Amino acid sequence: MAQDAFTKRLVAAAQEVERTLDRLLKPELSPGEQARPARLLAAMRYSALDGGKRLRPFLLIESAALFGAQGEGVLRAACALEMVHCYSLIHDDLPAMDDDDLRRGRPTNHRAFDEATAILAGDSLLTYAFDVMADAATHPDAQVRCELTLGLARAAGLGGMAGGQMLDLAAEASGEPLSREQIALLQAMKTGALLRFAAEAGAIYGGAGAQERAALVAYGRALGQAFQIADDILDAEGDEAAMGKRVAKDAGRNKGTLVGALGLAAARALRDDLAQQAVDALAPFGARGGVLAAAARFTAQRAH
Ligand code: IPE
Ligand code: IPE
Ligand code: MG
Ligand code: MG
Ligand code: MG
Repeated sequence: MAQDAFTKRLVAAAQEVERTLDRLLKPELSPGEQARPARLLAAMRYSALDGGKRLRPFLLIESAALFGAQGEGVLRAACALEMVHCYSLIHDDLPAMDDDDLRRGRPTNHRAFDEATAILAGDSLLTYAFDVMADAATHPDAQVRCELTLGLARAAGLGGMAGGQMLDLAAEASGEPLSREQIALLQAMKTGALLRFAAEAGAIYGGAGAQERAALVAYGRALGQAFQIADDILDAEGDEAAMGKRVAKDAGRNKGTLVGALGLAAARALRDDLAQQAVDALAPFGARGGVLAAAARFTAQRAH
C-alpha cells in the first residue's frame, strides 16, 4: 500500500476513534456510577481527545479487519486501548517521571490542570479502559471480552508498560549505562507491550486461528521495538513542532536508549531491520497484510 493511501486510512480511523472516545467520555452516568466530577472528566477529555496518531487503535482495527471484524464493538476495544495509552502519557509526563511540559502540542495534563488531577485522570482513564473492554457492547462473546481484558491488563501492568516504565526510571536514577539486552527489554515492556497487544487484540476480537494470531504477535513485537527506537531517534534529531513534545531530552537525562548505546546510524539500521521483520511476519496474510505492512514502514519512517 502506498504511503499516502495509508496516511488517509490512518486519519479516517483516527476520526472514528475520536468520535467514539468523545461519546464514551460524556457526563452521563453508567449504571452503578454515582457522579462524574466535571474537573476530572475535563482532564480525561483533555488528554484523550483531539490528539495523537492513534496508532494503537489503528493496529487493532486493521488486525481485526483481517478476520472480517469491524464496527462499533471493534472501535470500543480500540478506544479502550487508546485510553490506556493516554493514561500512560499523562503519568509519563509528571514531574516525578519525565517532568515534561508539552504533549501533543499542548501543555501536559498536570500543567493544564494540577498534579493531583493529572494522577486521577490517568487512574480514571486506565480504569475506564477496562470498563469499556468488559462491557457487553464491545463483543457479544463473554469469553472474547475476557481474553481482551486479560490481554490488556498484562500489556499495561507489572510485566508490561508499567513495569517497563519502572525499568526506564531505575536506569535513569542509577546513571549506570544499560546493556543492549537490558534496553531491549525495557523498551519491549514500556512501549512494545501495548503495541504488540494492539495487533494481537485484533486477532482475539476477530477469532483468528493460532497461527494467524502468532503471526500478528510477531508483527506487533517487531513493530513495537521499531517504534521506540524511532521515538528515541526523533528525540535526538526530531523537530519539536512536528512532534508536539520537547526533544533532545533523553541524552541529558541518561535515558536507556539504543541511540545512546549504539549511536544514531546503528539505531536507524536496527529500526529499519525491525520494521522489515514486522512486514515479513505478515507473510501468511498475503496481499491482505498490505495496510499493516504500510503501518510498519510508517512506524520506522515517521517524523512525529
Ligand atoms: C508516545 O507514543 C509515547 C511512546 C510510547 C514513545 P506515540 O508517539 O504513539 O504518541 P501519540 O499517541 O501519537 O501522541
Ligand atoms: C514513554 O516513553 C513510554 C510510555 C509508556 C508513555 P518516552 O518517555 O520516551 O515517551 P515520550 O518521548 O515522552 O513520548
Ligand atoms: Mg518516559
Ligand atoms: Mg517521556
Ligand atoms: Mg521519548
